[in-house]
Amino acid sequence: MNLPLLDSGLLDTDRLSAEFQSVPAGRLHAVTKSALPTGSLDQLFRQARTYNEWSSREIDEWTIHGLYELLKWGPTAANSSPARFVWVKSAEGKARLSALAMDANRAKILAAPVTVIIGYDLAFAETMPELFPARGEMLREFYREPTAAADTAQRNSSLQGAYLIIAARALGLDCGPMSGFDNAGVDREFFAGTRIQSNFICSLGYGKPGTPFPRNPRLSFDEAGRWA
Ligand SMILES: Cc1cc2nc3c(=O)[nH]c(=O)nc-3n(C[C@H](O)[C@H](O)[C@H](O)COP(=O)(O)O)c2cc1C
Repeated sequence: MNLPLLDSGLLDTDRLSAEFQSVPAGRLHAVTKSALPTGSLDQLFRQARTYNEWSSREIDEWTIHGLYELLKWGPTAANSSPARFVWVKSAEGKARLSALAMDANRAKILAAPVTVIIGYDLAFAETMPELFPARGEMLREFYREPTAAADTAQRNSSLQGAYLIIAARALGLDCGPMSGFDNAGVDREFFAGTRIQSNFICSLGYGKPGTPFPRNPRLSFDEAGRWA
């Protein structure tokens, strides 16, 4: 078998682990990680755009599974992972979802290969014994309190929605996030009989080149923040 990386010693795990042990713990990050190549940073952030028009290329189910397998690793409070996802792909599902969207968003939903509803489960407390075995019972009691549950579910499902966008871009997909829809209506239509509520929706696909409007500016570092 030809394993050039192994042959060259680059994947010599014994040697690497010996080197790591000689490095002070605080410097390990510098040794084990490096910034992504500039092209990857462009794909994830600088050149990534919001798309509302799509090429004819479909997304296969494996790509959607791969997307979830990446985004699920993004951190959430106490590993609570409150987001729940409905991947709307069928014509029937698209019709139900688009009917509940603002007029301007309807065609965007119908045109996309997939539009995912990112919801949050207000009953996520019940999953804490599975997701945080060391303190599952205590966390379940804590998150059964309605205000703690709602705050945590909303905050962390928004984070998980952001992880979804970044993971999609990492896989070469484009995104069209939208909050212009009837949340209560979507909850009735897609989450009836559960305690799941919709947060936002996000179309996924391969964007049609040249269709986004000119990029809008962002706040500068100093406008957006300050040192303290
Ligand atoms: C949570 C969220 C909600 C949004 N809602 C809508 C929407 O309802 N309709 C729409 O056309 N665009 C919507 N957008 C798209 C934003 O306007 C767009 O992402 C933003 O202007 C940045 O564009 P850019 O990524 O091309 O720079 C939404 C984006 C986010 C993240």
